[in-house]
Amino acid sequence: AEIMKGGYDHFMMKEITEQPDSTFNTMRGRLDFKNKNIILGGIKQYLTSIRRSRRFQMIACGTSYHSCLAVRSLFEELTGVPVSVELASDFLDRSPPIFRDDTCIFVSQSGETADSMQALKYCRASGCLNVGVVNSVGSSISRDTDCGVHINAGPEISVASTKAYSSQFIALVMLALQISNNVIDNKERHVEIINGLEEIPRLISRVLEQKELIKEISLKHLHGRDSMLVVGRGYQYASALEGALKIKEISYIHAEGVQAGELKHGVLALVDDKMPVVAFATQDSFSPKVNSAIQQITARQGRPILIMTEGDDLIDKSKTSACIEIPKTVDCLQGLLNVVPLQLMSYYLSVAAGNNPDRPRNLAKSVTVE
Ligand code: G6P
Repeated sequence: AEIMKGGYDHFMMKEITEQPDSTFNTMRGRLDFKNKNIILGGIKQYLTSIRRSRRFQMIACGTSYHSCLAVRSLFEELTGVPVSVELASDFLDRSPPIFRDDTCIFVSQSGETADSMQALKYCRASGCLNVGVVNSVGSSISRDTDCGVHINAGPEISVASTKAYSSQFIALVMLALQISNNVIDNKERHVEIINGLEEIPRLISRVLEQKELIKEISLKHLHGRDSMLVVGRGYQYASALEGALKIKEISYIHAEGVQAGELKHGVLALVDDKMPVVAFATQDSFSPKVNSAIQQITARQGRPILIMTEGDDLIDKSKTSACIEIPKTVDCLQGLLNVVPLQLMSYYLSVAAGNNPDRPRNLAKSVTVE
């Protein structure tokens, strides 16, 4: 195992650090950056049926569920078809109506998660089209779906998922591109996204270069705390939920991912000068609303750690604990970069607390019971 860790203390750090390569591998042979084309061979035969769907349902658990949330609005924007994102367990509890012209997308790193497999069984009986977005080749979900996209992230050993998240995110973006590349009106947006994807591996490396700063900030402001908030909205709502999940899983600090617009409906009651807050404040069309959420926090003496766009001098840094500057990319891809500091924070907090980040208590890599 020591050799497999490739010189890192833990698989988790190895996998976080691998993301420039793993994200590249997800795109390799599928995206033609020169001609701005996409070919997903695994769904080719079913593409016409997928395009006829009147509804997409994404079904998953844990981190995989967050990758679905991360791409939901892009999917709706490009396809013009409504998308619902479902936790497999809740989906099963409701046993909702499924139409024959639905496309259900099952996202799973292992391809063996019991809740997701049961949901797939239910969908198979309903006669809809089922697509898998899976890392493990030959797994149950990749076999039992009609077609799919392997994310090709390579084996993920650490229980807390990191490189699978970024690769699921990219695979789902590619799926949205493939489904919608027959729509002429999308051309410009497609080119923007494909150019953005080409830069992602390099930009992830640039975020990783800030490891030491992120470690310092984590130890100074978050180590030893009982609870914290992770705030974001729009494209960064998923980053907030995924960041909070990483911190819970391996640092054992209670962390709540909050949709910034919902702060005022409850969570703001928790904010004072002692509650640590991490806020996603990278520039996009939602920035004015995010900035107002940050003001709601600072007005209650909260001193957030900001994840912000590098060189953004419009942002008010005066009432913050710290700022982490992230390169700017296309709005719908920004989450691929923003999640990395939270992955690193959770790792450093875990190690500082004396935990083994690769083997968090009470959790399993692949949950094969319902
Ligand atoms: C477990 C793992 C998580 C993972 C979730 C879904 O809870 O600890 O890291 O996100 O299962 O797993 P899947 O293999 O379906 O993506």
